[in-house]
Parts: sequence; C-alpha cells; structure tokens
Amino acid sequence: MDRHPLQVRMKKAVLRHSLAGRLIVALTLLLPLQPAQADAILEGERHHPVKGSNGMVATSHTLATEVALEVLRNGGNAMDAAVTAGFALAVTQPRSGNIGGGGFMLYAPGNGEAIEAIDYREKAPAAATETMFQDEDGNVVPNRSRFTHKAAGVPGTVAGLAMALERHGTLSLEQALAPAIRLARDGFTVPDRFTEGLEQARDRLARWPATLETFYKEDGSAWQPGERFRQPELADTLQRIADQGIEGFYEGKTAQLIVEEMERHDGLITLDDLKNYQPQIRQPVHGNYRGHDIYSMSPPSSGGTHIVQILNILEGYPLAEFGHNSAASIHHMAEAMKLAYADRAEFLGDTDFVEVPLEGLTSKAYGEALRKTINPDKARPSSEISAGNPSAYESPETTHFSIVDRWGNAVSNTYTINFSYGSGITVTGAGFLLNNEMDDFSAKPGEPNAYGLIGGEANRVEPGKRMLSSMSPTIVRRDGRNYLVTGSPGGSRIITTTLQVLLNVIDHNMNIQSAVSAPRIHHQWLPDEIRIEQGISPDTVRLLEGKGHKVVTGSAMGAIQSILIDSEGTLHGGADPRRSTSSAMGY
Ligand code: DON
Repeated sequence: MDRHPLQVRMKKAVLRHSLAGRLIVALTLLLPLQPAQADAILEGERHHPVKGSNGMVATSHTLATEVALEVLRNGGNAMDAAVTAGFALAVTQPRSGNIGGGGFMLYAPGNGEAIEAIDYREKAPAAATETMFQDEDGNVVPNRSRFTHKAAGVPGTVAGLAMALERHGTLSLEQALAPAIRLARDGFTVPDRFTEGLEQARDRLARWPATLETFYKEDGSAWQPGERFRQPELADTLQRIADQGIEGFYEGKTAQLIVEEMERHDGLITLDDLKNYQPQIRQPVHGNYRGHDIYSMSPPSSGGTHIVQILNILEGYPLAEFGHNSAASIHHMAEAMKLAYADRAEFLGDTDFVEVPLEGLTSKAYGEALRKTINPDKARPSSEISAGNPSAYESPETTHFSIVDRWGNAVSNTYTINFSYGSGITVTGAGFLLNNEMDDFSAKPGEPNAYGLIGGEANRVEPGKRMLSSMSPTIVRRDGRNYLVTGSPGGSRIITTTLQVLLNVIDHNMNIQSAVSAPRIHHQWLPDEIRIEQGISPDTVRLLEGKGHKVVTGSAMGAIQSILIDSEGTLHGGADPRRSTSSAMGY
C-alpha cells in the first residue's frame, strides 16, 4: 500500500527522535502544563484595551470602525457591522480594503452554535495555465504574476460579503453599502498614512492612467493629509451593487468594464469567469490548545492548519515558565514554525483540487512526533531545498477586522488584494483596484513567491482554482463561549503573528492590548532565519545565535485587530499600533 508522504514524514520524524530527545521531552511533559487561564485582564500593564459591554469593533481604519460601531448601536448585529466595515474599508483604505480582491471570514454565533467559515478567495480564470508565469524556457518571468493584468484572480469580495450578510445579517445589501457609498461620493479627510502609501507606491501605480486619475490629483501629486478625497466612479460602482445585488458587480456594466480592461491588456478574466464566481462555506480548522478551542481558516488558506500544528508542537513546552520572548521561548517557537512552513510548501493547496492531509497535519500525535525532533539547545538548519530569497517590494498590505455584538456573535474577517494597492491596476471607469493574488500560486514548483514562500505541485496554477493563502481569521472559544476574536495581515507572517497573540493571551496571560502590541518574531523555514521586530533584547539575540540561529531585525510584522470577551461578558478591544489608523471602539 502506498503511504501518504505525510505518514512517511511522520514516521521518519519519530525514528529520528533520539534517546536524549526522548528524555528531554519526557521531562518537559512532566512539568505542569499551564492550567486554563483566568481572564487575561491584569492591571498594571503598559498597554490597555478599549472596553465595552454592548459591542466592539477593531479595524485598521478609524472611519470603518466608526461606521461599523454605528450599525451595532442602531441594533444591527456583528455581521451587519462586518459587511458595512468591509465595504467602507474598500473606500477609505484602497491599499487593502477592496472589492477587487478576496478573503476569508469566520462567523461564531454567540449562542455557541457551530462556527462557519466563508471562503471568498479569488479564483484563477478559466484560461489560466500552469506555466502562464513562465517563459518558453520554463523560467519565471519577473513580475508577470504581480504587476500585469494576468496577476488578477477573479474577485470574490462582493459575492463573499453579500453571502455573509444574507446568511447571518439583518440589513439589506443596500443598507450595508450606504456608508461606503457616502464616503466615496462625499469623500473623507485623508490621514497621513493614506498619503504616505500613495507616495511610496507612486512609480508602480502611476504607470496606469486610470490609477493615476483615481488616486492622485490632477497634477499627479498625492492627496495630502487633511484634504478631502472623493471617488465618484467607485461610488457609482458600489451603487450598482446596492441597486442590483451581486449581479451589479459580476454582470452588467461593472463586469463589462472589468472585461474590457482585461482585453486591452492581455488579461484573462472573462464575463463567464465573473458570472461563475461562487464563494464557499467551509468547515473551519479546529484544534485545542491548553483547554482552549481554536478555530481558524481552512484551505485554501494554510493559516488555520499551521496555527493549530504549531500550537500542538508548543503545547508540550512550559512557555510561561520559559518567559515571553525569552531565548528559550523564541527558540522553540522558531523550530516549530520551521517544521510547519516546510509542510506548508509540500502539502497545502486548494482542497477543491488537491488532497491535503489536514487531519494528520493538525493531529496531536503528529505535533508530538515533530516536537520530538526539536533539540532544545540547537537550531536545526532548514532543508537544503533551494529557494531564492524573498523578493523585496514596498510594504505589503492586507486588512483584518474583528467585531463582537451585544449577543456575543463574533466576526473575524481578513481580506486583501495581496500587495499594497494589489496589481496597481484600476479598472478604467469603475474606480477600484484589481488584486495581484495570482502571485500566491507557485509560478513554478520550488520558486518562492513575493513572501519567499515556496510552493509545490499542490499549489500550481489551475483554471478555477484558488491560490493558497496564509490569511488566518481566528476565533477561540472557552467552555463553548466565544473568547478571543483575532486575525492579521502580513503575508507569510500572518500565521506567526496570529499564533503569538494566542500564546501571549493563553500562555503569558497578557491583556489583549499587550498581546497585540508585544514585539513579534517569525520563522518560515526558508529563508533559514528568525526575523524579529525591534524590542527583542540583544542578550536574547546573542543566546539565540549561540544556539545556531541567524537572527535578522526587520520592520514591524502584521496588524492584528483583536477582541477578547471576558467571563463577565465585558469586551476588550486591542487595535494594533503598527498601523497608525488602527482603532478599536466599543460601547
Ligand atoms: O493570501 C495571502 O496569504 C496573501 N495574499 C496576503 C497578503 C498580505 O497579507 C499582505 N499584507 N500585509
């Protein structure tokens, strides 16, 4: 009988496990595990969450937070607020908020009923081929999957948000779109970050006349902080959705404009691709970590799978005793991360097309077998599989929001157009940017994508397939009740960012704002280095280097917007200070 590669790998992992390793693991397992935590709301911390008792919204843009909170105040539920925020962000934060991209949402009813995942990830157009990003000699053509019309997958956001609203909301699509249409038509006051983003990405964006016209002033300069920025074409596009439902995007004038844009520039998306787009209801990945039920996104995202896998490995270590961001903690975390990302490269892809050994990857037994391969004193060099360095490009951007209503219903949503401003291409006449999500496929097996992530056969381009993601909207339940709602942007760092907020709350007993603000680390197997944010002590770095790690300080990672519901039902909002426009508001 053929063995599944995962089984072979698990077997090898068990065999590699030395006597010394066994002893160490046996000893660590004897140490008392952390008991299920009391509420992580210690006073005396440096960071303090926003509190509320009836509703809480945490997003990456104040205006989106405000309009969503208003929906809650007016009696709407978490889904009404979420869809309103999703459309508002498409107006106020064009670098990642979108209707030209896709994403994932988790919905957790406050009454403890099953958590649902909505997959509205973009899909490859029907004319996509496995080698579409390679030249005749089989070499990857630089930037074809990033900055051309072929970079765009069929957008899923409008269908996904509409489906979520219909299943769990009380507002009409028209009502949920109203604040976004107003913000697009009447404009809004530009914050610093808006100007900075457009100035930074100018060279890439200004190549496309519709992008220049939509997002820059007539003289070509960026809108300045304090000025009012209006998007009349986008307002009309949103109005067509309000008037006609999703057909107002996937058919009719908007669809026509998208297809004309494609035809002018050798793009692949057709009227049929748009008409056929369907979001999917998925079963979220489920794991248990120190008595907490962890729910997160299943394929075509890799996020939930690897968060659960890493937690399973780490559960055998006394992380609280090791100490937050101590060398011992970071070493064990990095070793576990490496193992998970190596599996990601091999096994993960769209489960509508490939078989992914999800049960094995998320099982306690596999976590244990992998744990046994970790040496507590020494870093294991990453595999020899050759993979270039991640290509550098200006700060990428995705956006996450978390919302809880007065009934305890929770929404965790991450959506994206991949890079900041996606492909940089605006649909002429429709006023919105197209994603460049096709870069999340492996352009060629073994070649890294923009985040340095290696992909294999499981994630090759196929018509109608969804490209692999790292987005990880996550909801934790305790004793069947919604407890923590979280998620982040950050490309390949989404998984480790989300993981660390879970560890900070569950192991290190931090309040949610401290958990969000604390410096983070990241290892993704290849490149073989621990990336750290500023704020990890040089002594710790030296200890890690002594264990054989390469440690590199990079820019801030992620922007995790989180809400914790304590046992009294008080809501604690933690917005990530890594984005100057982030905000949590409750009432
Ligand atoms: O789906 C993914 O994993 C990526 N396209 C997400 C990109 C991202 O998070 C960029 N943001 N910081």
